[in-house]
Amino acid sequence: MKTHNNGELRITHVNEEVRLVGWVAKKRNLGSMAFIDLRDRYGKTQLVFDETFHDQVHDVRSEYVISVLGKVVERQSKNPDMLTGDIEIVVEKLEVINTAKTTPLIIDNETDALEAVRMKYRYLDLRRPNMQANLIQRSKIASVIRRFLDEQDFVDIETPVLGKSTPEGARDYLVPSRNYPGEFYALPQSPQIYKQLLMISGFERYYQIAKCFRDEDLRADRQMEFTQVDIETSFLSDRQIQAMTEEMMQKVFKEVLDRDITAPFKRMTWSEAMHTYGTDKPDTRFGLEFHDLGEVFANTDFKVLQSGLGEGKVIKAIVVPNYASITRKGIDKVLDIVKAHGGHGVLDMKFVEGKLDGRILKFFSEAEIANLESQLNLVENDLVLAVSGDFEVSCTALGAIRSYLANELELIDHDAYNFLWVTEFPLLEYDAEEDRYFARHHPFTRAMDEDKDLIDTEPGKVRAIAYDMILNGYELGGGSLRIYNNEDQTKMFEVLGFTHEEIRNQFGFFIDAFEYGTPPHGGIAFGLDRLAMLIAKENSIREVIAFPKNAQAKDPMMDAPSKASDAQLAELYLSVVKAKEENN
Ligand code: AMO
Repeated sequence: MKTHNNGELRITHVNEEVRLVGWVAKKRNLGSMAFIDLRDRYGKTQLVFDETFHDQVHDVRSEYVISVLGKVVERQSKNPDMLTGDIEIVVEKLEVINTAKTTPLIIDNETDALEAVRMKYRYLDLRRPNMQANLIQRSKIASVIRRFLDEQDFVDIETPVLGKSTPEGARDYLVPSRNYPGEFYALPQSPQIYKQLLMISGFERYYQIAKCFRDEDLRADRQMEFTQVDIETSFLSDRQIQAMTEEMMQKVFKEVLDRDITAPFKRMTWSEAMHTYGTDKPDTRFGLEFHDLGEVFANTDFKVLQSGLGEGKVIKAIVVPNYASITRKGIDKVLDIVKAHGGHGVLDMKFVEGKLDGRILKFFSEAEIANLESQLNLVENDLVLAVSGDFEVSCTALGAIRSYLANELELIDHDAYNFLWVTEFPLLEYDAEEDRYFARHHPFTRAMDEDKDLIDTEPGKVRAIAYDMILNGYELGGGSLRIYNNEDQTKMFEVLGFTHEEIRNQFGFFIDAFEYGTPPHGGIAFGLDRLAMLIAKENSIREVIAFPKNAQAKDPMMDAPSKASDAQLAELYLSVVKAKEENN
């Protein structure tokens, strides 16, 4: 139906006869002449109509699908912002292929439509050039990844969506079985177990761009249904897996954005990340690193700071340049953040006229003030914020303050892509409420050799051979080396509180497989949605997913989820005992 697309014609095409199709993006009447910008996924082309088209063009409206035949001519006034801005088409024939109602949202990069409207009319939202660019870029990212992994001898293997629970820490989505009343399949939270079994099968290098399903609260970087670039390898070390995936990211950024990413990436242990940034996914595009004040206040008489002394306790501070001017309201906001993260308070001091100043200084000795000033290297107009108490609570709270202030004071270099490996995660996480340990990554992660003996005596101290790839403060991917013998795997399940019977029932097939020659193996999975979001410089993965769920886990366009008919329920031997409305 066309000779060229709408982003293609240039000055070199002048005098050619062309046929174009597309959507009417804009129409303008100028005396006896009329102009239409014709749009398709490649761009826009300006069409010019003389007065003989007056009546026909009059009837054409935005978003009609039209076809034109015409001649390419050089434009009088060129438009450097348009790919085809040097030329226009003098139309000789116009055909309306299809009409369109007035759209409920403006089809352009800028739209004032509310998210609810964008989601309900997603097919129109996706007609906007920036949304098309996002999805086309996502497709390119996936294609570079596939090509890279293919070249590295990876085998793309599909794994089932209907399976058994895979413990990744979220709630499962269950699918009732019609053949086995009262029994359910679980949708995979990831292909973790399958990919490990594929290593036992001997495939050595597996990948899959896989859909994963997790019933958890949605956030800007989290959907219930998302896509992983899932990788598993045999006979490689953690460093080799990391080096290979660094190269994959370098390829993606080079081919998609023409950006050179420096490798090897910076590395940091989990403990360093927590101590310095208060998070296991530090954004290193700005400073405000933590200072440890444990030594300065080792003998303090000040009760508040004594809470930060001893095993598992910390006193941490950040120095915010040029922010001595913070208002009372500003401090209150900071305090709210601390409280939201389970902390009690925050101490604020300023460095003005060459010395520290603040209400709390009266609680410090002269030596403490002198040590504080020299350790923090303070300069005029610095603001110092300090917290003390439990290590994770205090660091996490100060980490949240750090991010908040970086945004507030515009300290973030938005052009930067800062990659980082965080390594040596704790293997287990203690849950005080349930009085038991949970796997921080998943229960198949191998402990570091030097910590293995601690598993019975101090399980909380065991470090895992687990690693996360961080990009600009987001967890882009996570992986680990795996346990590869029956004995260690059984031990791990026991530490996690499984009885022998539960281990047999839930993971019997997996433990059995370990008995038939299991290679040492490990892997990683990347969030494709997150990668596409960061490359597109968007703030939510919804902007790079064609048909996402909204923040309430609904699809307003299709109206999903929706009620099942009685016949469907009967066929599945199900009945709805209590709907949520009745519950409330
Ligand atoms: P993990 O649970 O860390 O590891 O997930 C890997 C990556 O998947 C992305 N991700 C998500 N993206 C969008 N929405 C979500 N709800 C969501 N959950 C996770 C993140 C994350 O880094 N089987 C292991 C991997 C392995 O050990 O090889 C796993 O799934 O970018």
